[in-house]
Amino acid sequence: MNDKNKNRFAWYQPLGTRRPALTIACLAELPAINDESRLADFDGYFSADDGRIKFTGRIHDQWQSLCVDFREGSADYRRQHGGGRKQAIARAVGLKHNWNPSVLDLTGGLGRDAFVLCGLGCDMTLIERSPAVALLLEDGIARARQDEWIGEMMRDRFRLEHTEARQYLASLDQDHRPDVIYLDPMYPARRKNAAIKKEMRLIKLLVGEDPDADSLLVPALQAANKRVVVKRPDYAPFLAERKPDIEITSKSHRFDVYLT
Ligand SMILES: C[S@@+](CC[C@H](N)C(=O)[O-])C[C@H]1O[C@@H](n2cnc3c(N)ncnc32)[C@H](O)[C@@H]1O
Repeated sequence: MNDKNKNRFAWYQPLGTRRPALTIACLAELPAINDESRLADFDGYFSADDGRIKFTGRIHDQWQSLCVDFREGSADYRRQHGGGRKQAIARAVGLKHNWNPSVLDLTGGLGRDAFVLCGLGCDMTLIERSPAVALLLEDGIARARQDEWIGEMMRDRFRLEHTEARQYLASLDQDHRPDVIYLDPMYPARRKNAAIKKEMRLIKLLVGEDPDADSLLVPALQAANKRVVVKRPDYAPFLAERKPDIEITSKSHRFDVYLT
């Protein structure tokens, strides 16, 4: 956590409760607040109630919460009813009847896209550089691994590395090159879809923009065995202004596919 964020965020820890043991050490440096009224001094706070780690952030003077839970809500609904291998994301990645690629998601975020791909058979590795987002994601993965229905696939084919994408690629050896690299960097939202807006706004509060997103494309093209897929809002320009080989459009997004 950088110094700027240290002053903006806190842990809410009511008296008599404990902060969970954190694998991402820098988040332990955030101040512990036990008096609810003092939370107003911060832009957001983490808490660990009902067995889940939550981030609550202030958006337009209202507190909104976010946690990663693959077992419920839209993530699980989409896994079960999302259109299978015919949906745009599956076609973009190149899923075929007998081919389950290894996919390296360099912009893991809340793991939603990766979870869909994992449910369709891909072997997923996620990279996330923000300690705060990585903490939420790690917490969601740990709970999902205990689940009766999705536990096995999450243990076998869904892993997270908390690091920066280009650093990760630089340390990747030839034998471990993924079939597909997936990129979904932050891009300013223009649409007024309340659910997406809330989640993306909370992530934006934590990570800001991704101003270096263009610089991910070339190293990704060098590292992927088969293709690089870039998810963009339909109004966004191509990443690094580079025209893709294939464009696949869905309701509000475009998947730009670069064959390597
Ligand atoms: C729009 S979100 C991704 C959402 C994700 N596709 C999902 O389905 O939840 C972008 C995420 O990528 C991360 N990110 C951006 N650039 C990165 C980089 N160079 N290395 C690692 N993570 C990065 C940001 O911190 C942010 O959490």
